[in-house]
Amino acid sequence: MVSSFAIKAIVAFLASSASAQLIGKEQTETHPKMTWQRCTGKGGNSCTNVNGEVVIDANWRWLHVKNGYDNCYDGNKWNTTACPDNKTCLQNCAIEGADYSGTYGVTTSGNQLSLKFVTKGQYSTNIGSRMYLMKNADSYEMFKLIGNEFTFDVDLSALPCGLNGALYFVSMPEKGFGTPGAKYGTGYCDAQCARDLKYINGEANAEGWEPSSNDQNAGVGKRGACCTEMDVWEANSVSTALTPHSCQPEKYSVCEDTKCGGTYSLDRYAGSCDANGCDFNPFRVGVKDFYGKGKTVDTSKKMTVVTQFIGSGSSLTELKRFYVQGGKVISNPEPKVEGMTGNTITQKWCDTQQKVFQEEVYPFNKFGGMASMGKGMDLGMVLVMSLWDDHYANMLWLDSNYPTDADPNKPGVARGECDISSGVPADVESQHADAKVVFSNIKFGPIGSTFAQPA
Ligand SMILES: *[C@@H]1O[C@H](CO)[C@@H](O)[C@H](O)[C@H]1NC(C)=O
Ligand SMILES: *[C@@H]1O[C@H](CO)[C@@H](O)[C@H](O)[C@H]1NC(C)=O
Repeated sequence: MVSSFAIKAIVAFLASSASAQLIGKEQTETHPKMTWQRCTGKGGNSCTNVNGEVVIDANWRWLHVKNGYDNCYDGNKWNTTACPDNKTCLQNCAIEGADYSGTYGVTTSGNQLSLKFVTKGQYSTNIGSRMYLMKNADSYEMFKLIGNEFTFDVDLSALPCGLNGALYFVSMPEKGFGTPGAKYGTGYCDAQCARDLKYINGEANAEGWEPSSNDQNAGVGKRGACCTEMDVWEANSVSTALTPHSCQPEKYSVCEDTKCGGTYSLDRYAGSCDANGCDFNPFRVGVKDFYGKGKTVDTSKKMTVVTQFIGSGSSLTELKRFYVQGGKVISNPEPKVEGMTGNTITQKWCDTQQKVFQEEVYPFNKFGGMASMGKGMDLGMVLVMSLWDDHYANMLWLDSNYPTDADPNKPGVARGECDISSGVPADVESQHADAKVVFSNIKFGPIGSTFAQPA
């Protein structure tokens, strides 16, 4: 009896120590509050406030030795004394609370969230941020998108070429991982099978970490975290894209090394997710006067963005987009590329775009296409709002000609008006330090409940 109890106790201890990160005591974690609305009925007239809060991702936080101020991770490297291996690292290092405005340039007010690009704090210079909407201090808000509509306002007039003010959903676990869980922004995953994460699945990603050659704050670990990703909004003042990215399995999964695929691996297509996505970018489908400063959707002013997730159960059939600006409802435009029709994303639309753009690979379908997206959404998804620059491709896939050496007259190559030399992180960080994005007025409810859709 005694020995079996002892064994159980040891097993329990090992299990919990494997996923427990120590929490630092220098800064109390206090999430900025942010309200949003749940809507019922029709036309945006029956919406009630929800008192939410946001948390910054764990990767942005200070990691230091548990009994002092020495860094466990500094710039783009792990401290190999404190972190000779994953396990020792977990035992030696503590993760800190965040000074949201002072260190990260993140502020909220009422229903609004503002993310500043470069923030010079007392100890460090911070670049961008990644925020999650929470239900309470310890759980992410889980959205079931199918059959519903998600609406928000965005002001990205101060986002130039090379920046991305993104609002998207990923199938992260509701509670993040272990201790400290969602409260400290753990558990991120996406369709690039993110390998730049310092902790994966509650374990340090320290062994085999390669510091980035062009990013002073980042590196690539051996492990990556994959899951379905629904990019509702990847945009700056020049270009915008609506992009589902499928994965199989749909839910959170850990990958190793080159088998991760995606942005961080040599073979982009070796993983379990669609790194490219099936994107609807108005400029890329030939409608060059639709989105931008002074255009039909005028990015010099705030706008409302509506996205409808048509379907039922775990079956997603269509993604629809509307804009509301100056009291006018503006539908997504019809493509102007020969052979393409339809202003919404459906399985057929993705298949057609693939053919018309003559893409050599079709990872969206390899990992299950819209059917798999539906399954990923049915798991419940976490809302992410972020501001970032791109150390891999200078955001040219969003706002310029990409691939940069392809003929811009070939369908699918031109994605926006930015120059192919734009978006270099060192340039945008020095020249546009004051850039910011403001998200506000989030509304969520059944189709037709968040705004007055014309008949
Ligand atoms: C690395 O951690 C050790 C303690 O484990 C500490 O003595 C040393 O100063 C740290 N190095 C840096 C660069 O912070
Ligand atoms: C440490 O983590 C790396 C990936 O980050 C993994 O490949 C390795 O197996 C882990 N080591 C141990 C001892 O768990």
